[in-house]
Amino acid sequence: MIDPQELTRRAEQLLAEATSLDELHGVQVELLGKRSALVEARSALGKLDSSERPAAGRLLQQARQEIEEMLAQRRAALEQEERRGRLGVDRLDLSEVPPGPTRGTVHLIQRTRDELEDVFVGMGFVVAEGPEVETDWYNFEALNMPPAHPARGMWDTLYLDLGEPETVLLRTHTSPVQIRLMQEQGPPIYAVMPGRCYRRDTPDARHIPIFHQIEGLVVDRGISFAELAGTIETFTTAYFGPDIHSRLRPSYFPFTEPSAEFEVTCTICKGKGCRTCSQTGWIELGGCGMVDPAVFAALGIDSEDWTGFAFGFGIDRLAQMRHVIPDMRIFYENDIRFLRQI
Ligand code: FA5
Repeated sequence: MIDPQELTRRAEQLLAEATSLDELHGVQVELLGKRSALVEARSALGKLDSSERPAAGRLLQQARQEIEEMLAQRRAALEQEERRGRLGVDRLDLSEVPPGPTRGTVHLIQRTRDELEDVFVGMGFVVAEGPEVETDWYNFEALNMPPAHPARGMWDTLYLDLGEPETVLLRTHTSPVQIRLMQEQGPPIYAVMPGRCYRRDTPDARHIPIFHQIEGLVVDRGISFAELAGTIETFTTAYFGPDIHSRLRPSYFPFTEPSAEFEVTCTICKGKGCRTCSQTGWIELGGCGMVDPAVFAALGIDSEDWTGFAFGFGIDRLAQMRHVIPDMRIFYENDIRFLRQI
């Protein structure tokens, strides 16, 4: 016959070892289930002498009650522990301050555009804008480039699938805004026209297919090449400071005569020659020249009475030289380490 006290002692030990409600369930089966020592002991009562049976039966009954009580207590303790654990995990920590949204910065190209506008407004120019989707007439024809003119090859054009083939395009330069301005308002004109341009150019250190230009147009009485050169000189010093030198080189554009290219010392190599400036020591920032009388004629402006000059600079190129950036492609890679610096 199993000692009932031994049963409760064993139960006490097993219950203390159960550390979860799952484990407690296993212990309950072991202590009170069909195959438990308690049930076994009860079956064994039959083998006892009838005089001993009632007392032994009472002891077993008592042991069962004690075990059931201990089991209930342990269950209550474990339930409370588990609830406390769950609350700890689910608790909302209202004292935690998550990092707030970080403040963005104005992109370097936009900032350069704003600064250029300020420089030119300070020199007495007004700011105008035109559409990015243009017709062939504004982008080429009115600029003295009739259909099939070889100079059209200077711009690798992106045509849109609109209207007659090759009549609507993404503007290749800001020069069509000159035409719109001269159409809308007569001379005198002192205006700059910044905006986005598109070309089928392969990206490299100095080229990207979507870039920005700032166009300038002055039309008045008695305007000469001296005013053009003086304006460019004043602008260069105002924007780059006195250390950067510029030069005008004879060039060709169908809408200006004479025409020139405007170059500055390469800031990457300080004029020694490097990959960015193709070893020349100079970087071309834009084109310029005196407005061709043929352009005035197409717009009904009397070129005997009025003269003017125009220029068009790459804003991305200007920013690249001013901030000494060897490769222009970084402007559009959206590398957060670059964007954070500006
Ligand atoms: C022109 O676009 C003329 N419309 C400029 C002009 C205006 C001449 C008024 C006369 C009078 P050009 O194609 O050279 O010219 O481009 C001018 C400038 O735009 C370049 O010097 C360069 O700074 C910038 N540019 C041109 N293509 C790209 C490109 N793919 N990526 C970045 N910048 C470019």
